[in-house]
Amino acid sequence: MTTDELEKLLTKLPVSQLHMLARGRIHRHFRLGKRRLVEALLGHVSVNRGGLESDLQALIQQSPPPSQESRPRQKPGSAPAGVGRAGNKQRAPSEAGHAEPAVPASDLSAFLDGIGVPPPQPLVPDAWQEEALGHLATTDVIVSVPTGSGKTYVAIEAAKRAIEADRTVIYTSPLKALSNTKFTELSKLFGADQVGILTGDRRDNPHAPLLIMTTEILRNLLYDAASGEIDVRLDTLGLVIMDESQYIADPERGVVWEETIIFCPAQARLLLLSASIGNPQEIAAWLTSIRPTPCHLVQHHRRSVPLRAGYLHPNGKLAPLFRSVGIPHGHGALLHPETKRLFAQYEDATLPSR
Ligand SMILES: Nc1ncnc2c1ncn2[C@@H]1O[C@H](COP(=O)(O)OP(=O)(O)OP(=O)(O)O)[C@@H](O)[C@H]1O
Ligand SMILES: [Mg+2]
Repeated sequence: MTTDELEKLLTKLPVSQLHMLARGRIHRHFRLGKRRLVEALLGHVSVNRGGLESDLQALIQQSPPPSQESRPRQKPGSAPAGVGRAGNKQRAPSEAGHAEPAVPASDLSAFLDGIGVPPPQPLVPDAWQEEALGHLATTDVIVSVPTGSGKTYVAIEAAKRAIEADRTVIYTSPLKALSNTKFTELSKLFGADQVGILTGDRRDNPHAPLLIMTTEILRNLLYDAASGEIDVRLDTLGLVIMDESQYIADPERGVVWEETIIFCPAQARLLLLSASIGNPQEIAAWLTSIRPTPCHLVQHHRRSVPLRAGYLHPNGKLAPLFRSVGIPHGHGALLHPETKRLFAQYEDATLPSR
């Protein structure tokens, strides 16, 4: 068989059979998509061409030939194979024209229900948001609440209040990209003349009352301020917002957060925001011990945006991970049967034979 012929035969195989061929031949083949699997298998011919060709022939002989009658027709523009819509029992033909074993599509409608943009509604602050804003008048605040809860609202309201009181505000984020996004978002909200940005790559409007910067830049500013070498005013600083403050636990960069907190001017309030600080009580106690004002912790664990857990097979099929729509903790038996079946299929195709 020429390499061209081999490539054509491989390309016609469904991905699951390519994985079977790759088993024991290609390291971590289950991570590869179809095209790269074919390339990897072609690369393997130099190791044992005969073995690969005979396994390929055996696979082809095992597979039933595609029959026109049994192949479902796919409407133009219909969903791609595997990502079945609710109640759709048909599967689209595989790329090669080989029908994979018939598998009932799982009902994903409950799993996907509610994903989208909700209709606009007036924002009524939650009690924990009011609590955080209320405390900022007199104390530093750590907000430790789940992702998607509305920490940005607290940051924006606190910034508005500080600016109205003629104080300046610094908003730090751990990433340049996040700083750029916040700069765009807050410029729209506060007006372009009110917002500046300082990162390693960018320096715009450094005398604005609301300055966005990476935490490293603020730490360096605080270092340099000791020698009076900066052109950003820190004596009017009223509020420092540290978004994604769980970075304080980062083994390499965490020290930057610690130093920034230690050197933060005494008159400025600190507002630390995070969805994933593991020990917020300890951080609050530490802030209270080193800062002139106490630190108040606002914490809850309610998720406004429920998590959904799904299983995505390398062949593109998606199934709910659990029988229930929510996430049951510690109940392996509640795995969705479709997911169990897909995972068994995956193991079968990828684990070395016993
Ligand atoms: N009190 C509220 N009622 C309803 N929706 C709210 C409320 N507060 C904030 N939101 C909305 O919740 C969404 C998520 O808010 P936000 O981005 O601030 O979450 P977050 O806590 O910062 O999450 P992350 O941890 O991912 O950064 C936004 O669309 C926001 O408008
Ligand atoms: Mg946020």
